[in-house]
Amino acid sequence: MKVLIIGSGGREHAIAWKLEQSSQLEKLFIAPGNAGTSQLGTNVDLAIDNFEAIGQFCLENKIGIVVVGPEQPLVNGIHDYFAGDDKLKSICIIGPKKEGAILEGSKDFSKAFMKRHNIPTAKYVSVTKENIAAGFSFMESKKPPYVLKADGLAAGKGVLIIDNIEEAKSALEEMLSGKFGDASNTVVIEEFLDGVEASVFVITDGTAYKILPTAKDYKKIGEGDTGLNTGGMGAVSPVSFGNNDFLDKVDNQIIIPTIKGLKKEGIDYSGFIFFGVINVKKDPYVIEYNCRLGDPETEVVMLRLKSDLLELFDGIASGTLSERDVKIDPRTAATVMMVSGGYPDKYEKGKEINGLSDLAEQVVFHAGTTTNAEGNVVTNGGRVLAVSAVGKDVNTAVKKAYEGVDKLNFEGAVYRRDIGSDLMKK
Ligand code: AMP
Ligand code: GLY
Repeated sequence: MKVLIIGSGGREHAIAWKLEQSSQLEKLFIAPGNAGTSQLGTNVDLAIDNFEAIGQFCLENKIGIVVVGPEQPLVNGIHDYFAGDDKLKSICIIGPKKEGAILEGSKDFSKAFMKRHNIPTAKYVSVTKENIAAGFSFMESKKPPYVLKADGLAAGKGVLIIDNIEEAKSALEEMLSGKFGDASNTVVIEEFLDGVEASVFVITDGTAYKILPTAKDYKKIGEGDTGLNTGGMGAVSPVSFGNNDFLDKVDNQIIIPTIKGLKKEGIDYSGFIFFGVINVKKDPYVIEYNCRLGDPETEVVMLRLKSDLLELFDGIASGTLSERDVKIDPRTAATVMMVSGGYPDKYEKGKEINGLSDLAEQVVFHAGTTTNAEGNVVTNGGRVLAVSAVGKDVNTAVKKAYEGVDKLNFEGAVYRRDIGSDLMKK
């Protein structure tokens, strides 16, 4: 099987790393990829939103499966583009069509979907400029803090959590006046839920589904979850909830009604579903849906997945996912993200990375790297390296990951020292 992965981050490097272990893999391409993926397959210089060029490349290289890493091409219809072309339609796309990707592409849609299917989620109201008064009265009826979400994709920045009601009202006005462009023409205002969050991933062919390892990510730039939101500064898998009751509830109250709901609404969904869930007094609620895997969660999920990922993809291609097995390593995986100084604001690129060849016990997934004219690996993004390791428990896995971080350096490198500390045995 010849496979093309779309994307260039740590998630895509981790998927490439896992696929490369499959005996069924004939050839692997990554578009555009990074310095890490270039060691596992061939990087191809294609823009992720140029569907025509991607399609052409697939035909020329007899690609059988396209794995779409990020949400943007899915929300913009890469799957629909392939499905609507006679020459491309036999190529299997891992990722939903537009009608399914809208679970992530529109918070207004996903909240209404959850309501239709009795899936537990925070109470909400959806407002536009026309009914802003309904938004104000919803806030007045609730205690702080107030959760405001831009309806559309806003590069992970579209959620505001505000303590003061007056500030929340002004923020709502700003959002409706284009703070996040068209993405905030509609704003979802939600009740605040207090609890521990986790990411639950599912792979589905639209009928059958398999649950992948759970994970927790650390979104804030600063230790102790302070400062600005980032794409994710680290992750740990699994997230322990004490026993299996909580995961059973997630399965019965969230995953099954979601898969059935999609089917009932005629939405033909294949690929991954990422459930951002929160544990409120032992009951799960959906915080968000994503139509793809998380980053950096994928880095720890792939380290624990023992089954052949390409076989699972083949299960989607042939509609036989129900017959495939998902085996998971019982140990813990941790990843620590090394980022460029200044991230998530302005940062420089092109800093030489040292120490990459010194790591034996860790797996370093490249998140934002490239190779310069002299052949050296240099920084090429905000998030640079996801330094990852497996251990018998959280303490061991995290310790090993940090031993890797200690051996790596580039000018201005920043990382959090407290990844996983909330999950450790004291
Ligand atoms: P989202 O983009 O929807 O995942 O929201 C970003 C982050 O905001 C989540 O990971 C949560 O930490 C937080 N958040 C979102 N919705 C709520 C809510 N209803 N209650 C509490 N926290 C929330
Ligand atoms: N780590 C969160 C995300 O991928 O959206």
